[in-house]
Amino acid sequence: MPTLDPLLIGEIDPPQRLLMGPGPINAHPRVLRAMSADLLGQFDPEMTHYMNEVMALYRPIFGTQNRWTMLIDGTARAAIEAALVSLVVPGDKVLVVDFGRFGLLLDEISTRIGADVHRVSAPWGKVVPMEAIGEAIARVQPKVVACVHGDTSTTMAQPLDGFGALCRATGALSYVDATATLSGMDIAADRWGVDVVTGGLQKCLGGPSGSAPITISDAAAEHIFARRHVEQGIRRDDLRDGLGPRIGSNYFDLAMIMDYWSEKRLNHHTEATSMLYAARECARLALGEGLEARYARHAAAGRAMSAGLRAMGLSLFGDDAHRMTNVTGVYIPQGIDGERIRTAMRTHFEIEIGTAFGPLQGRIWRIGAMGYNAMKHKVLLTLGALEACLSAEGVKLPIGAAVPAALAAWHA
Ligand SMILES: Cc1ncc(COP(=O)(O)O)c(C=O)c1O
Repeated sequence: MPTLDPLLIGEIDPPQRLLMGPGPINAHPRVLRAMSADLLGQFDPEMTHYMNEVMALYRPIFGTQNRWTMLIDGTARAAIEAALVSLVVPGDKVLVVDFGRFGLLLDEISTRIGADVHRVSAPWGKVVPMEAIGEAIARVQPKVVACVHGDTSTTMAQPLDGFGALCRATGALSYVDATATLSGMDIAADRWGVDVVTGGLQKCLGGPSGSAPITISDAAAEHIFARRHVEQGIRRDDLRDGLGPRIGSNYFDLAMIMDYWSEKRLNHHTEATSMLYAARECARLALGEGLEARYARHAAAGRAMSAGLRAMGLSLFGDDAHRMTNVTGVYIPQGIDGERIRTAMRTHFEIEIGTAFGPLQGRIWRIGAMGYNAMKHKVLLTLGALEACLSAEGVKLPIGAAVPAALAAWHA
């Protein structure tokens, strides 16, 4: 037998990094503890009780009364894919509200489903005006309108009041990706009038990636159940297929997933128990803190981060009026290699800040403060560390200005 490197069989011992990028972030210790709880069989009454609790816990977090509020097993992208593949029938017109990478992802997924995709776009760093969305809906007459709430690629948050009404006026179903803002900024599925909203744990909810909360309106559920196709091996006389076209994915078939989360408990996948415990604990933490207090904490962190970066003499990316509170884009100073600074932050301070994608790659950093990391001391540590790393690279900055400015802005 070949000899094994002893490190391969040692216990995992990752460095204690402070994750101040656009997510993932450090999980709250209560979430990590919940994940180590004992496993249960998926139809154990305790397990189905926890599933029902999760449904109840996520309704206020999504700002909804929707019965169909549950989890998709997978990262946030899994819920996006489940929503779109279940709402969109191949050939349907889909309108994507696009102002960054994740809007383009909605286009990409819808295109793969076989939709006729149209876009109403804003340049990166801006959001799409509601009038432009209304005009595009009137022109395209889409079956589904899809939009991101907070697009971490640009750090912009799209205002969504009135969005659902615009979609419903022409009979379109609406979808919103709130992965990056759920429990950090005001998410109001019912007030927005949006049919399907999805999230992820690894941002403002303060958990690990791997479970994606979703909420589905009754209207959308009806549309999806019309496409119900009961899997061959579990057919029963009392279960009827819908008349609509079968959903083109088994794993992401929301009709089957809703049947699994309903009192029918129709078997689909094996619920990811430890991730369900994590999602449940994330929600309990958020509701225990109070959603308004949590939004205010994220807003304070965003204000403090912005003020500290500006006090350092750095320029923020994007439109001030539409910033996400939990992640801030900042231009890399002229002549500075952004990756060298990120490496220095990691090596000297054990702090991770984010790079950027597409047209912003090498031009901005994205610095987050969300969930368990939207804390005053973590923002101040990050700013102090960035100041030291920039100064060591020869950037001339007002030494000592960032931290007091951030502190003042936190309490403003
Ligand atoms: C707005 C937005 N949508 C979707 C995703 C994809 O999430 P995941 O990587 O968990 O699939 C991200 C991740 O950064 C995101 O920020």
